Amino acid sequence: MKAVVQRRYGSAVLGDLDVSVPGQGEVLLEVRAAGVDMGTWHLLSGKPYLLRFLGFGLRGPKCPVPGRDVSGVVAALGPGVTGFAVGDEVFGTCEGSFAEYAVAPVSRLARKPGNVSFTDAAAVPISGGTALQGLRDVEPGQRVLVLGAGGGVGSYGVQIAKALGAHVTGVCSTRKVGMVRSIADEVFDYTAGDFTGAYDLILDCGGNRPLSRLRRAATPRGTIVLVGAETGGAITGGFERALRAAAMNPFVSQKLVMLMSAERADVFDELRVLIEAGEVKPAVERTFPLSEALDAVEHVYSRRSIGKVVVTI
Ligand SMILES: NC(=O)c1ccc[n+]([C@@H]2O[C@H](COP(=O)([O-])OP(=O)(O)OC[C@H]3O[C@@H](n4cnc5c(N)ncnc54)[C@H](OP(=O)(O)O)[C@@H]3O)[C@@H](O)[C@H]2O)c1
Repeated sequence: MKAVVQRRYGSAVLGDLDVSVPGQGEVLLEVRAAGVDMGTWHLLSGKPYLLRFLGFGLRGPKCPVPGRDVSGVVAALGPGVTGFAVGDEVFGTCEGSFAEYAVAPVSRLARKPGNVSFTDAAAVPISGGTALQGLRDVEPGQRVLVLGAGGGVGSYGVQIAKALGAHVTGVCSTRKVGMVRSIADEVFDYTAGDFTGAYDLILDCGGNRPLSRLRRAATPRGTIVLVGAETGGAITGGFERALRAAAMNPFVSQKLVMLMSAERADVFDELRVLIEAGEVKPAVERTFPLSEALDAVEHVYSRRSIGKVVVTI
């Protein structure tokens, strides 16, 4: 099969690999599309270095094929798999979706929403799942602020918070204002002045503002969810801000959350329901063929992407 092959951090090429055999609790997928997110860039580059100590491979990537978000068709069942059949259309996450075939554990797969394409479905799992898990505290009528609203997690964050009945304000740079305006109640273009207001929940997917700035924008008993940051350098990548928030949390009236999202079938199923109800629509800006998968990752890393980017197989 054709696949993007990565033996070392920082370099990958399109090559040929044998198709893997699914093990216990796994299925073989004929991949139709693979979503791209900031995490894909981190795993390709091996940066921040902290992630190499978190089980992804110290000297080189454990998985020789990048890509985690996937949509596709079940091509074969491994031992012990129930609830899925050959030919089922699914979406979720796996190791190595930048390939014609990938093996995926069924614990990370759900049925593809019936009303969207494979391309749109592949744009959902990690970003949509992260946003969903970051918004668990939201109640109808609350005010929610989404930083990085023009990105992958942020575009789902805005839509899911709206679906939960919140009044949602998105913050983004000028190029992304049009997309964010189409899904949020209010938009701040931070290049023209920073956001104002008091919020019950802040979902921070941009990550370049100090915690003190976020705390001033949250209500006294508000929640601040730190999703990610890209401004902390090559060693920790800004992770220390979230760690500081978690350490501070027991001593303040606000709830400070360091989000570690889980990739699970039940989360993807919740997203499927939201998508089929028309409450969430994947905001796919651009697709790339498998031969240009690295350009797709670079497009996201460069901050040029608006919403989501997908590799189609
Ligand atoms: N905690 C978790 O479990 C989890 C799960 C998934 C992702 N993440 C992290 O969450 C963050 C958002 O992920 P994503 O996939 O949504 O990324 P994305 O699509 O690139 O969106 C991030 C947005 O943040 C803004 N931004 C502000 N400063 C930035 C900077 N220095 N570098 C890059 N973007 C910056 C950009 O918007 P403007 O151009 O409008 O400023 C961009 O649209 C990333 O750090 C990612 O690693 C964490």
